[in-house]
Amino acid sequence: MSTAAATAFEIMELIARAAAYLRENGVIKPRLNAELLLAHTTGRTRAELYAYPEKPIPSPCKDGFIAAVRRRAAHEPLQYITGAKGFRYLELEVDGRALIPRPETEMLVERAVQILRAAQGHPLVVDMGTGSGCIALSLVGECPAAVVYATDISADALALARGNARRLALDGLVSFHLGDLCDALEKELAGRIDLIVCNPPYVRESDFPSLPLEVREHEPYISLVAGPEGTEVHRRLMEQAPSWLAPSGCLLMEGGEDQVDGLARTANKLGYGAVEVHPDLNGRPRILEMHRHQA
Ligand SMILES: C[S@@+](CC[C@H](N)C(=O)[O-])C[C@H]1O[C@@H](n2cnc3c(N)ncnc32)[C@H](O)[C@@H]1O
Repeated sequence: MSTAAATAFEIMELIARAAAYLRENGVIKPRLNAELLLAHTTGRTRAELYAYPEKPIPSPCKDGFIAAVRRRAAHEPLQYITGAKGFRYLELEVDGRALIPRPETEMLVERAVQILRAAQGHPLVVDMGTGSGCIALSLVGECPAAVVYATDISADALALARGNARRLALDGLVSFHLGDLCDALEKELAGRIDLIVCNPPYVRESDFPSLPLEVREHEPYISLVAGPEGTEVHRRLMEQAPSWLAPSGCLLMEGGEDQVDGLARTANKLGYGAVEVHPDLNGRPRILEMHRHQA
């Protein structure tokens, strides 16, 4: 994209040229992307861009916009460029240190909130593999009685989650721990956790090359891929969790629609009780709930 000055309705011209450039580079919804990037770099809303097309764009904003469009044309995710992603009631900072939170995970949180609100006292909950912190920070905000822990095997992801906690003035309300699944937890939590909630990586190794460029080249591999079946992390957590859960404790996990029914059968074989599969908004099985003992 050239930096040559735009004319009359400069905003429309910039959007049209950026959209054409993004389209040439195979970006889906190029015009929407161009609008969102211009809104981001000017600090205006999309509606303002169209309502006041004659309003000049300061040169530094124009340069910032061109740089942002180049990044997007190289298939960097829009949210990494704008640095923000909305999740339930939160606006989270996101960057290449962790997965961009997905809408399906909001349903996982919805079920976790129901479970925690039905619990007595101060239920103890662990968000295993917290990434940006989206699950743990939502639970702190929506279930103030809960005592929330968050873990991740990635120090980078934990740093991002801690930063989000600080920015949202929720720091001090989540206890962050680095480590591989339950190894990250303090020993005194064994047998006391009311809820473990986890959105583990669940892409099969063989599916990785066919992921969109945005995902494959920009989101952390460790947040995406889990062994040949994509269920390695689920299965390890299902084996570890009973020693950490309270007798009435629950393990709640997100998975792929072709994985969750098989995982439910494994949960039954492992002796979990009240094993349930919850569909997403499109009716696809995506959330697996299991309890340490039969209800
Ligand atoms: C699919 S991402 C989910 C991130 C976030 N919870 C969300 O829903 O957007 C999976 C997360 O689990 C972490 N992870 C992967 N393997 C792990 C392990 N063995 N122990 C702990 N965390 C792990 C990754 O670093 C990543 O942050």
